[in-house]
Amino acid sequence: MLKDWSEVYAIGIAEIDEQHRGFFEAAHRLYERILDREGRQAVVEAIAFMRSYANLHFQTEEAFMRAHAYPGLAEHLRLHTAFFRRLDELENELMIFGPSQDLADRALDITQDWLIDHIADEDMLYALHVKAEASA
Ligand SMILES: [Fe+2]
Repeated sequence: MLKDWSEVYAIGIAEIDEQHRGFFEAAHRLYERILDREGRQAVVEAIAFMRSYANLHFQTEEAFMRAHAYPGLAEHLRLHTAFFRRLDELENELMIFGPSQDLADRALDITQDWLIDHIADEDMLYALHVKAEASA
C-alpha cells in the first residue's frame, strides 16, 4: 500500500528527514511506473533513479555516522549494501517476467516498506547516539 511521508518517520535530523521524504517519492514513482504498463524501459529508468537516489542518501547517512563515530556503522553499511542487492533482484525479475501488479507490490515492499522499517530499527539508533553525544 502506498504510504505518504509522515512526521512519525522523522528522526529529527532535517537533512536526512528531507531525503527520506524524497526516498518515499522515488519509491512511489517506481510503483506507478510499473503499473503504467509503458514497458520495461520506463521501469528500468525508475529503478535507476531509485538506485541513484538511495546512493546519494546512503552517502549522506554514512558521512554523518562517520562524523559522529557511530559504533554501529559497519552493520548499518551492510544493510545499505543489501538494499542494492534486492533492487538488482527486482530488475532481474522485471527482465524475465515484465511489469505486473505482483512486481509493483514487491517494489513497494523492498523500497518504501523497507525504508519505514529501516528508519524505525536502524536510523533511530544513530539519531539517538548523536543526541546522547550532544547532551553529554
Ligand atoms: Fe540507513
